[in-house]
Amino acid sequence: MAEFRLPANSRVVKGVTYAAPPGTRALRTVRIYRFDPDSGANPRLDTFELDARSCGPMVLDVLIQIKATVDSSLTFRRSCREGICGSCAMNINGVNRLACTTATRDLAGEIRIYPLPALPVVKDLVADLTNFYAQYASVKPWLQTRTPVPPDRERLQSKEEQERIDRPAACILCACCSTACPSYWWNSERFLGPAALLAAYRWIIDSRDEASGERLDELEDPFRLYRCHTIMNCTDVCPKDLNPARAIAEIKKMLLERHS
Ligand code: SF4
Ligand code: SF4
Ligand code: FES
Repeated sequence: MAEFRLPANSRVVKGVTYAAPPGTRALRTVRIYRFDPDSGANPRLDTFELDARSCGPMVLDVLIQIKATVDSSLTFRRSCREGICGSCAMNINGVNRLACTTATRDLAGEIRIYPLPALPVVKDLVADLTNFYAQYASVKPWLQTRTPVPPDRERLQSKEEQERIDRPAACILCACCSTACPSYWWNSERFLGPAALLAAYRWIIDSRDEASGERLDELEDPFRLYRCHTIMNCTDVCPKDLNPARAIAEIKKMLLERHS
């Protein structure tokens, strides 16, 4: 009979507990996934007890506080702390979110922090985004033209044409959506995932782009596009309030219209 168990070396074991500092009045317990590939040890879940009064308001502030005062080896990505760079995406209390825009007061009880799901882990909360970025690059996310640039001006758009791409162009490539998508978990080598498909859509509908036919040809494939089964997790988790599921549905519609 088949045995459905994780390999022994991938089971998350109980980790270290760092007790709250003396005099703590607003105790907050934070459990964080830890993994160091160089150690050869299993991943573990460390527990940090903090005084919420000594931390800033966001989950990213908590991580920075832990790194600065408790365990300097804690590893995570961050840059802008403004929800703009997309680098602090992680799984917080079971939901993919940006640590810098998630307030601890909005999280009830313990805070549990894991790397983005279904990706290889580089260290602690840092997931390996190599495949994610390669898929983004594969949709050629840049303007493609055949006609020469007008000699006296840029390639202009009307206000309405710009507004069509305004939302999809606001994607910060955080990967919250793709790593929340069950189809992507099982087919991440062949299904492009919602982030890359949103980027493809953004260029297909750009009034200045002259390669929309080729872009659609590239997507007409049982795996690259059609592994999306409209589960909607992607749209639910997007921290920028974008709608990759609708973009994917629009691409499918365009492909259908080409054949009718
Ligand atoms: S709508 Fe499609 S891309 Fe989005 S989560 Fe569902 S299956 Fe994945
Ligand atoms: S669509 Fe939203 S969740 Fe997905 S990568 Fe872009 S910003 Fe992140
Ligand atoms: S640090 Fe840039 S989005 Fe969070």
